[in-house]
Amino acid sequence: MSDQLTAVPNQFGVYIHIPYCIQRCSYCDFATYVQSEILVPERYVALVKEEIPLRKHYFGFSRDTEKKLDTVYFGGGTPSLISSDLIVGLISELNKHGLTTGPDAEITIEINPATIDERKLEHYLSAGVNRFSVGAQTFHDRLLKMVKREHNAKQTLATLDLLKRYKLNFSFDLLFALPTQTVAELKSDVEMAVEIGSSHISPYCLTVPEAHPLSKNRPLEDEQVEMFDIIHQHLTAKNFNRYEISNYGLPGKESRHNRLYWDDHSYWGLGLSAHSYSKTTEYGHRFWNPNNIDVYEKQIRQGIVDLPENQIETLQKYQALTDFCHTSLRVAEGISFVRLERKFDAKACAKVLEIAQPMLERGLLKLENNHLVLTHPGVLISNQIFEKFTFLASDLH
Ligand SMILES: C[S@@+](CC[C@H](N)C(=O)[O-])C[C@H]1O[C@@H](n2cnc3c(N)ncnc32)[C@H](O)[C@@H]1O
Ligand code: SF4
Repeated sequence: MSDQLTAVPNQFGVYIHIPYCIQRCSYCDFATYVQSEILVPERYVALVKEEIPLRKHYFGFSRDTEKKLDTVYFGGGTPSLISSDLIVGLISELNKHGLTTGPDAEITIEINPATIDERKLEHYLSAGVNRFSVGAQTFHDRLLKMVKREHNAKQTLATLDLLKRYKLNFSFDLLFALPTQTVAELKSDVEMAVEIGSSHISPYCLTVPEAHPLSKNRPLEDEQVEMFDIIHQHLTAKNFNRYEISNYGLPGKESRHNRLYWDDHSYWGLGLSAHSYSKTTEYGHRFWNPNNIDVYEKQIRQGIVDLPENQIETLQKYQALTDFCHTSLRVAEGISFVRLERKFDAKACAKVLEIAQPMLERGLLKLENNHLVLTHPGVLISNQIFEKFTFLASDLH
């Protein structure tokens, strides 16, 4: 992210959460349901459509405001599970409310293997969908079965083949550090993910609480680091750029939507559990929808325009500074001192440098062109580093 690039004003995108899955993977903690357990998709999508005019004002938009969307992202859950009419209908609904998607908008949909066919794909394409994020995870059936993924490797290959036949831009979710997974298995997964033509790869290290059944027989911490390293070495050798701690893209294939989150742009999350960030106050505010489908449904049905206090937070300077440091450190370019001073002040820059000093000395951070950047050893313990850049109100007096 150059300083010039981020000076581009008003980048804005919409995330739409689709909370349906064929079955629940045993490690998943996202707000998603097996289809038969909640309201049917038609009713859910109708709620999301109702939500648009209710919450538009949080971005300073009036009923008639027209705003060009830079990105739209359908995430889940498994958005490809529901009828493509519903997905396409949501894009039309955004347009109807003045949130327009021109030919240069990035429109991503998460798809799971064996949930799309040619008809569905063509329908997405006709509505401008131009990026596909595939929940492939691994090509090893025994591992897929173990974590209760509903698809097998053959189905993943068929789905990826379909995308390739249409010459589409797709990203590959790669899950690693699974119980009993070997380094050789991981190597073959990452090689295959590249070979098959992914333009973007998101490696996810399995995260489960200590008491979870999948926390047993996992690769030891050293092996997990080795696995992450194998992924990194292979992808960088194949011309992928690690533009964020856990996201790799071929040149020009970074996820523009994800960059909104990391580059301090506004975004609007619609649907169950979705989070939003709006920059209409000095340091902006965050707001979010409930995780529980009944509560979400009730709020929309009641036409609640102003969210309850526990679903909105107006950011104070110390919170905004924390967010700014965390999100900037996640991306390859790091914290820009020019942007830091522009958004906060010279004192904030001095504070960040003071905190960074011992980590610069230990080689966990480096200074590069007036940016503070995680080094490779820093990436491996990034959570500990983020803690140091978590501010309290009293830190800024
Ligand atoms: C919420 S899912 C949405 C995509 C799609 N439903 C899927 O799972 O393929 C996004 C990614 O998060 C990953 N994920 C979910 N829970 C995780 C966990 N506990 N640890 C690591 N990755 C996780 C999934 O494997 C998936 O690749
Ligand atoms: S398919 Fe994705 S969202 Fe659904 S349960 Fe599995 S990991 Fe969670």
